[in-house]
Amino acid sequence: MSLTRRTFLTYVGTGTAALLADPVSSAPFPNSRREKLTPPLGMKPILPSRKDELVLAEPFRSNVIISWGDALGTDGPEGAETFGFNNDFIAYFPIDARSGGRNPDEGLLWVNHEYMHPLFVSGFTGKGKKTREQIRTEKLCVGGSIIHVRREGENWKHLPGSKFTRRFTALYPEIAVSGPSAEQVPLGIGTLANCSGGRTPWFTALSCEENYPDYNLGGRWSDVPAEAIDDLQYGWIVEVDPFNELPPKKHSHLGRFKHENAAVHVGPTGRIVVYMGDDEVDQHLYKYVSAGKYQATASRAANQKLLEDGVLMVADFARGQWIELVYSQVKDTLAKTKVKLTDEEKKTLASIGSQGELLIYTRLVAKALGATPLDRCEDCEVHPLDGSLYVALTNNSRHGNYYGQIVRLVEDDDNAEGTRFRYEIFLAGGAQTGVSCPDNLAFDKAGNLWVVCDMSTEMIGSSPKKRSRVYEPFGNNGLFVVPTRGENAGEAFQFASGPVESELTGPWFSEDGKTLFLSVQHPGEESESLTDLTSHWPRGGKEMPRPSVVAIRGF
Ligand code: FEO
Ligand code: CA
Ligand code: CA
Repeated sequence: MSLTRRTFLTYVGTGTAALLADPVSSAPFPNSRREKLTPPLGMKPILPSRKDELVLAEPFRSNVIISWGDALGTDGPEGAETFGFNNDFIAYFPIDARSGGRNPDEGLLWVNHEYMHPLFVSGFTGKGKKTREQIRTEKLCVGGSIIHVRREGENWKHLPGSKFTRRFTALYPEIAVSGPSAEQVPLGIGTLANCSGGRTPWFTALSCEENYPDYNLGGRWSDVPAEAIDDLQYGWIVEVDPFNELPPKKHSHLGRFKHENAAVHVGPTGRIVVYMGDDEVDQHLYKYVSAGKYQATASRAANQKLLEDGVLMVADFARGQWIELVYSQVKDTLAKTKVKLTDEEKKTLASIGSQGELLIYTRLVAKALGATPLDRCEDCEVHPLDGSLYVALTNNSRHGNYYGQIVRLVEDDDNAEGTRFRYEIFLAGGAQTGVSCPDNLAFDKAGNLWVVCDMSTEMIGSSPKKRSRVYEPFGNNGLFVVPTRGENAGEAFQFASGPVESELTGPWFSEDGKTLFLSVQHPGEESESLTDLTSHWPRGGKEMPRPSVVAIRGF
């Protein structure tokens, strides 16, 4: 375990300029209104940075809990287990949650491992074909980890070898598929491409399989045909119980697409509502509404069933309507669709003859029914005070939306179980707000929105030749806090800046709001060789960069 270097910026009160040792070459556009405001949380906001550090606003500090490659103290089917690569979504589970406790100082973390960097993980340089051994090494680096953590003073520690510690990898033996597509989908081998996720009220994690096709293409597991993945097994949301009482399940009722996240909400009559983004340009926003109702006193196994019977819907922003994706209701409309489709899409659409098949081809059905194409729908989160939904649209360079925006969706009659809504733009990305390419979101108890940014690392990386002028004012990817109430509503204050070529992901607050868990993903991602590394975070010196989970204190 190593402490990250605390970075206190020289900052002379609000309304004056902060001084940085290595400011970005182009200062942010002035925002005279924001400079007059009092930042929230007693923080002193930072300016964009290009430092190879996790820079935090004063007076906050962080410590690294666990990094890629750290021993978990457990043995899996393939031997001693280690923490996977590119940690993303984090959910905290109070250690006493099953008995109604909310311990803010000891618990379990579910952590997604979204993808791996072949050079760092298996030594694959991009030339020639991957070997079977390289592919197996890579398969053991993705999926998710359950780790046991405890606060000691102002630092959080990982407790290796806890009875709860487990790894889910792309070699995890088998995960059952629930719901209508169960018969069509072969029993899944493990899980991969786990991006963001959510936590259920019965304290399980929902982990979202996002860019699964990349593993056979960019990831090139197809170099060894026996190791290639079957696409049909992925693109689902997998439910995992960190306490290991309930079996892991891929819930087909939540649809199959490039799942970014799962924001779980209890509706006004007790139905479980899961809001989900599909992160690709011109894809859609979905929600699932359970048939049954959540009961806190029911068994966890009974509540798990709520994800096995319900209705999936997709958003039509023009009509303010959630379209129900129920085969018996839409089959005639699908047969007569006027939406322009390719010949292959028409063929696939015509082959759909059941609810199970509709869910396998969720994207195509949504498109054919006129769902609104969005500018990369990433995370969405429900406001803890008013129940409205904040949706991050990262960007869409196809039509010049380089900075993205955050949309606020309000359900008619505040009824999350209903089918009508209105929306507004809450925050527009760009130099005027300082936020560029919003991705993961989180709310604190006061209703402040926490926003991490996902500018392409190639375009903001250490190579000035590849760097894009569009992203020049923003420095490294950062974390912002945006009040949603009061005079500061809608103003973004920069709270953190990640190391070189990293992305900050998976922000999650402990139950008391006093710890912010955060993933630092893919530092040094543009490194082309192990002797020419672009980042050495977090260990410094000549060390390889290591994606890590940190705990931030000072709230
Ligand atoms: Fe994996 Fe959409 O970020
Ligand atoms: Ca993401
Ligand atoms: Ca992202």
